Amino acid sequence: MYTLIDSADLKAIKKIYEFFPIDGVTTNPSILKNAGTNPMERLKEIRAFMPHGAQLHVQTVSLTAAEIIKEAEHILKELGENTYIKIPVFDQGIKAMKLLHQMGINITATAIYTPMQAFIAAKAGASFVAPYVNRLDNVGFDGVEIARLIHDILTRHNMDTMVLAASFKNTQQVLNLCEHGIGAITASPSVLEQLINHQMTESAIEDFTNDFFSVAGEDKTMLDL
Ligand code: E4P
Repeated sequence: MYTLIDSADLKAIKKIYEFFPIDGVTTNPSILKNAGTNPMERLKEIRAFMPHGAQLHVQTVSLTAAEIIKEAEHILKELGENTYIKIPVFDQGIKAMKLLHQMGINITATAIYTPMQAFIAAKAGASFVAPYVNRLDNVGFDGVEIARLIHDILTRHNMDTMVLAASFKNTQQVLNLCEHGIGAITASPSVLEQLINHQMTESAIEDFTNDFFSVAGEDKTMLDL
């Protein structure tokens, strides 16, 4: 399961990258707004920091297919290889996806709330389709269930498209999709950090450390023996 950071906070991205096995970064216009700086400058900083080959997903904001395509070309020129053009699912967006796919450009279809939106985007050539799990939960639907259904539909139709589940509030939502074999998730730094935190683990580490110190001496490690 590709695991991506849904953030444009460079400090938080660097911290997660230091400790976690991460495949890239996703952004959207709201995330870039929260970063409080020039969006393209921030995206370039993220691209410069990430390892070679990492995915960077960047959203277009134009409302016509022709403009979306121009934006996509500009984004790719500025941010280079392995940049995925995120396009919301609406009629002009789907038209742009078809054309960009013919041009060999990587596409992530976003703002997905229904399985059929995902299916049509996949047929139009999207490499990833991004259902908004928590936002679905917030309006009375089961976001995890919809993401699973999309995964099953894409698998059953042998489509070359993965689910990139997005908009998570907690680790349980991530677990439920991981268990289902989903292709990719993107989550905020705080949700990602929670994936490895457990009070019992911290307590076990503390006990092991204290036991070792009591037999080998304070602040010793295996290197001292
Ligand atoms: C990612 O592609 C989405 O834009 C993002 O996950 C939405 O997350 P939010 O619901 O936390 O804003």
